[in-house]
Amino acid sequence: MKEVNHLKGVILAGGLGTRLFPLTRVTNKHLLPVYDKPMIFHPIETLVNGGIEDILVVTGGNSAGDFLKLLRNGRDFGLKHLNYAYQEGNGGIAEALGLAETFADGQPIVVMLGDNIIQGNIIEATKKFLQQESGAKILLHPVSDPRRFGCPVIEGDRITRIIEKPADPPTSYAVIGIYFYDFSVFNIIKTLKPSDRGELEITDVNNAYIGQGKMTYDILHGWWTDAGSSKGALHKANTLVAKDGANNLEISLPG
Ligand code: DAU
Repeated sequence: MKEVNHLKGVILAGGLGTRLFPLTRVTNKHLLPVYDKPMIFHPIETLVNGGIEDILVVTGGNSAGDFLKLLRNGRDFGLKHLNYAYQEGNGGIAEALGLAETFADGQPIVVMLGDNIIQGNIIEATKKFLQQESGAKILLHPVSDPRRFGCPVIEGDRITRIIEKPADPPTSYAVIGIYFYDFSVFNIIKTLKPSDRGELEITDVNNAYIGQGKMTYDILHGWWTDAGSSKGALHKANTLVAKDGANNLEISLPG
């Protein structure tokens, strides 16, 4: 499809973070510290380390304006500039992604949830996605409790369906919050209906690609965590980053 450094990146950092109350009563969960940096630094570093130079941060909820104060023009990450979009309300991951349509401007994108932190990098997965003609790619990671995540049904070497937070998980994998999409994702989003929890679900987007036979997947190596999903997960993320670091990318912080 394209060169790595032309792939645009979208970080979704909206939502109300209610599972972390009272930590998020007056601030946005992506601004909370994960060891030595605000949570949002970690996905930005993952994209930058993966060769992505053009990034949009979608935010909303509490303290949305503080993202500008914190991230400014992205120079601390080696970026020429950063783009921002504002999600009104809490309508779901796919709704937040829909706000990136103008930014994507007809091109494929990599999307990362603002509370996901990985130890390794996305360089190989990105290269493989760019070799695809079209469609999407997701990343899986083995987990001890797949009921907390999107969980894939795998038949042979194909994913046939993803079930969001299954009561009876079909595999022990989670679909992690890093997604590669061609531009048709924005047409798919326009067809979605809110789920039982009142949100436009990213799992419905992924199932649409699976239905079209246009979804590939890889297994992510190294540890992965979704720091904002519970207080326990936030604590675990702090411990993992303190022990191993994340993203293997050094950035110079303002004095
Ligand atoms: O972390 C991976 C999991 O993320 C996947 O396995 C699930 O399939 C996927 O649905 C998602 O599950 P969660 O229920 O944990 O998502 P959560 O509501 O925590 O939202 C994750 C991020 O998405 C959050 O850091 C901010 C962003 N978001 C979320 C909502 C609901 C938005 O930008 N806007 C929103 O309206």
